Amino acid sequence: MKIGVPRETAAGEKRVATVPDVVEKLVKLGFSVAVQSGAGEAANFADDTYRAAGAEIVGSAAELWAGSDIVFKVRPPTLDEVGLMREGGTLIGFVWPAQNPQLMEALAARKATVLAIDCLPRQLSRAQKMDALTSMAGVSGYRAVIEAANAFGRYFNGQITAAGKIPPAKVFIAGAGVAGLAAIGTAAGLGAIVRANDTRAEVADQVVSLGGEFVKVDYEEEGSGGGGYAKVMSEGFQAAQRAMYAQQARECDIIITTALIPGKPAPRLITAEMVQSMRPGSVIVDMAAEQGGNCELTEPGQAVVKHGVTIIGYTDLASRLAKQSSTLYSTNLLRLTEELCKAKDGVAVVNMDDDAIRGLTVIKDGSLTWPAPPLKLPAPPPKPKAAAAAPAPKGHGHGAGEPMSAKALAIVFAVGALALLGVGLFAPASFLSHFTVFVLACFVGYMVIWNVTPSLHTPLMSVTNAISSIIAIGALIQIAPPLAGDAGGRPNGLILGMAVLALVLTAINMFGGFAVTRRMLAMFRK
Ligand code: NAI
Repeated sequence: MKIGVPRETAAGEKRVATVPDVVEKLVKLGFSVAVQSGAGEAANFADDTYRAAGAEIVGSAAELWAGSDIVFKVRPPTLDEVGLMREGGTLIGFVWPAQNPQLMEALAARKATVLAIDCLPRQLSRAQKMDALTSMAGVSGYRAVIEAANAFGRYFNGQITAAGKIPPAKVFIAGAGVAGLAAIGTAAGLGAIVRANDTRAEVADQVVSLGGEFVKVDYEEEGSGGGGYAKVMSEGFQAAQRAMYAQQARECDIIITTALIPGKPAPRLITAEMVQSMRPGSVIVDMAAEQGGNCELTEPGQAVVKHGVTIIGYTDLASRLAKQSSTLYSTNLLRLTEELCKAKDGVAVVNMDDDAIRGLTVIKDGSLTWPAPPLKLPAPPPKPKAAAAAPAPKGHGHGAGEPMSAKALAIVFAVGALALLGVGLFAPASFLSHFTVFVLACFVGYMVIWNVTPSLHTPLMSVTNAISSIIAIGALIQIAPPLAGDAGGRPNGLILGMAVLALVLTAINMFGGFAVTRRMLAMFRK
């Protein structure tokens, strides 16, 4: 099949849906690739680099759209572009079906199959490699800080120079989702004092880990609205949040707002009075400008100065870092293409039984398949408090998970104690000491491993490494030749065999643990 990459037509859009490196990989998957001449120019990818990667360069948009089985786009196509599309063709890119009903109708009329990258079920861990929303939000968060630094008349980091002491800039980030966290990391990296707030309390640790300080709203309310997103907060919370934001506005030099609630206008967090209370020369970057803005005075798409404060409402932050965002975006599309073409034969198959693909597919062969049915995710682990509060059913014996009655527990303990007494009276002394170590090892193993939630399995590896070393030492003692004067001699073959097996298994666990830890650490290295 032929994949076509047209030049983006939206005003000021510099991104391109595929970069030369990805063209090479698409060709390896068996596809042929056509790129419209100049498509990558604004992102610094010349036609020649595409040609060298194996793409065919096509002169006009009409030729490209008509000749492609699959079209990769960044922005939603215009109605004119849909008119150029081959009947029954496939479109992959941002579509925003809820905001673009007319476009959806036009695409359906064209009998198209449309995979909207913005509809990816992001909750699936399998889908993360295709998550273009996250890639673009990360780039935008970074660029927001760069825009702020550009408009701000001072250093970000504090300095002591011969000419005087310079205090560090104070940056406040409203909303610590993907974009907010990227902004926190960038501003902290430039040396600013960074504070952040979000309605979802679970992001507090992430803020701290990136070098920020989490500022809490003095009001107890859970802000998660499901699927990792926020919800609209109560009036009481909003009032308390406004008071806190007003204080931050008085104290901070730069505010970057990223707060969004899916399907709702952006929450108004920064009022005109707050802007007025900021020091002259301060900067606000409103990343929610396109959805109505988090700041009352934002003008979408513009940078304006009001009350001496520069308010930046650019809606093309990702496009302002076109080379980076195009590279990330095209890698997301490549991962999606790999999912569509598992046979690597250059034929894309839209498998509606695959949850990730089903979520993305908003139109299939001209029929509307949006919105996708809700995902069947595994139920969250039950809350321990609720389980303890639930009354124990009476008179039905002990089903799985039911707590034992006091009487049954006493019987189990009594039987256990009697068995131990019997072992103590009749077993040889050496057995008893080994048995004690065995029971303690079972107990420690149970407590360390069984009670750990899956999200903590990686740190658990280091703990199990410590246990593995104990096993390795035990096995080595068994294998080592007896010291001179040692009673007992060499252990028999069975014990030796078991010791060697224990050593092999332990080595796998230890070296595997180190390998995983190295990979995790590499993720945080610069
Ligand atoms: P977003 O762009 O919809 O929202 C940005 C942030 O604004 C969110 O953190 C939200 O809590 C916050 N916010 C909303 N209203 C606010 C208010 N009134 N005051 C302060 N903050 C407010 O969200 P984004 O960045 O696309 O993703 C949100 C979260 O979902 C992230 O933490 C991300 O890691 C997570 N996520 C989870 C996935 C999953 O597997 N469930 C997949 C992708 C993202």
